[in-house]
Amino acid sequence: MKLTDALLGEHGVFYTQFTHLEQTVPSVEELEILKSQVGMLAAALATHAQLEEELLFRKLDPLIGEGGPLAVMRNEHQEVEDALAEIPGIEDLSECQQRLMRLLEVARQHFAKEEQIVFKLAEQSLGGDLLRDLGSQWAERRGVMI
Ligand SMILES: [Fe+2]
Ligand SMILES: [Fe+2]
Repeated sequence: MKLTDALLGEHGVFYTQFTHLEQTVPSVEELEILKSQVGMLAAALATHAQLEEELLFRKLDPLIGEGGPLAVMRNEHQEVEDALAEIPGIEDLSECQQRLMRLLEVARQHFAKEEQIVFKLAEQSLGGDLLRDLGSQWAERRGVMI
């Protein structure tokens, strides 16, 4: 399996989480519930971004350059990571809700850019054999048998 297919599958699971949160966050009444949801999302998103960075972006750097789309993706990874680190420190429920809803918007836009631009560039420039080898590394890191 190609790394790009594995990452697309991860996006698919995130989309269901994003949709669930978008539907429920506005009506959550307890700050602690919101913070535990943020904690779960943060853990999952952090490993996803880390795998993209280590297995994909670093392979693309010499081929498409560190500027352009890769710089945008890395800035957005940082923006999402910073927001996920800051939200648990917020003690106002409505501010926490707003920050989380905004974060979901940023994450959705980021995922769409990866799918439409970065993964397509990876398919064009890395080749099937390397993408399959990277897919095996992804499986090992995620503890998935393929
Ligand atoms: Fe990403
Ligand atoms: Fe991604």
